[in-house]
Amino acid sequence: MISVTSLVAKQLESLLENEKNVVSNLANASALIFQNYENVNWAGFYIYNHDSNELDLGPFQGNVACMHIKPGSGVVGTSFEEKSGLIVPNVHEFAGHIACDANSNSELVVPIFKNGEVYGIIDIDSSLLDRFSDIEKAEVEELSAVLSEHI
Ligand code: SME
Repeated sequence: MISVTSLVAKQLESLLENEKNVVSNLANASALIFQNYENVNWAGFYIYNHDSNELDLGPFQGNVACMHIKPGSGVVGTSFEEKSGLIVPNVHEFAGHIACDANSNSELVVPIFKNGEVYGIIDIDSSLLDRFSDIEKAEVEELSAVLSEHI
């Protein structure tokens, strides 16, 4: 059992206790993120598909979104390739940004690791510029650590 400090990560831990269904777990996690963070217009997951070598859209809250993202492409694909989280204060200044939702202006992405590999990416969008802080990135990294025990 990992040790988390943020309230939202503790909430996720109790929500997912003894739960094994990956789709259900990611679905509820996306709703939890969407409800907990203000001024968020999209929150969800892109899951790595080994067969197609793409990140496929997973459970999410928000407008319909791009179904497949190539590693290295956009904010999500960059986070996947770099195996690290990323705060993008202004998506319009990010080379290769994929505009799934025209309302999005800033973005936070954090990888979920499983057995040392990136399983998928947590993606959170805001219509505000410069919406995401380092503290929130650290919180979402805790969410990622909780999720890696339930995927
Ligand atoms: N903007 C992302 C694509 C996913 S949507 O934000 C839901 C990107 O550039 O990778």
